[in-house]
Amino acid sequence: RIPILMDCDPGHDDAIAIMLALAAEKLEVLGITTACGNQTIEKTTKNAQGICELLGKREIPIAQGRKAPLLTPVYTAGIAHGDSGLDGPQLPNPVVPLAEESAVEFLAEKLMKSEKPVVIVPTGPLTNIATLLLCYPHLKEKIDKIVLMGGSIVGGCSGRGASEFNIMVDPYAADIVYTSGVPIVMLGLDVTNDTTIQFEEKDDFRKIGKIGTFVAELVDFFGRGFEMIGWHGVPIHDACAVAYLIDPSLFTMKKMSVQIDLEGEYTMGSTVGDFYNVEGKEANVLVGLSSDRERFVKLLLEACQSYEKG
Ligand code: BDR
Ligand code: CA
Repeated sequence: RIPILMDCDPGHDDAIAIMLALAAEKLEVLGITTACGNQTIEKTTKNAQGICELLGKREIPIAQGRKAPLLTPVYTAGIAHGDSGLDGPQLPNPVVPLAEESAVEFLAEKLMKSEKPVVIVPTGPLTNIATLLLCYPHLKEKIDKIVLMGGSIVGGCSGRGASEFNIMVDPYAADIVYTSGVPIVMLGLDVTNDTTIQFEEKDDFRKIGKIGTFVAELVDFFGRGFEMIGWHGVPIHDACAVAYLIDPSLFTMKKMSVQIDLEGEYTMGSTVGDFYNVEGKEANVLVGLSSDRERFVKLLLEACQSYEKG
């Protein structure tokens, strides 16, 4: 099994990513840390706890992350995820207390203790991960790779102007991560915007039972904005990072050099990829370009079914 640490800001698609990871036999989730992104850190943390409670996964330790991006102000996405960060489904109150350590200490400890190199899976702003790399540089060798949802090379924006939300919210953290030398796999909007659950597929989830219904309810709420702009489905961005680890053949990928724009008045936080290797720099990122959407949805349906079997 591949040991992974998830760093997330739930968030509807983060919730589906957690559901998928905790169902996957191939993955061993060592813990979940929370980031401030879709909502404030208190809200994303409570959501992470509620999700694990709903999934019946009380044994997964959860640690709370940093309160704000490294240098820029808190910027949340209530417009997409609601006031709670996870509006729509009813979550149970968390029973299990949080880990005592902060997210960064927790991540460091898990890396130190792991015999195998660990994959870090961030699906929110990269604040905790950048702090980890700055404070514990020697632990880089314990990280197998970072498989993240964030950025976009050619395929759109979900933040302000040209940038994707997770990178835009903490561009300085993203810069630290992208220049760290740790191998990076990036599932950005280029691939995630096309990796949707179509609206007519919601019923297939509902039919499965409790967890399938949870996914359908997440899609109901998160889907409102996409329906309004004429989309036929909802991109399940964050679950792409987890799906990549379960079955990389779902995605086509390309290695390239990617830098974070920290200067642009309108483009700060955009991920600038040298698609044709014009500059001849060494590639630092394996970038997702496209996915097999139908097989991705099948993977999600199977994951929901696995919870029914207990
Ligand atoms: C990313 O932004 C957040 O709103 C989602 O949870 C996802 O991680 C997509 O741009
Ligand atoms: Ca997220």
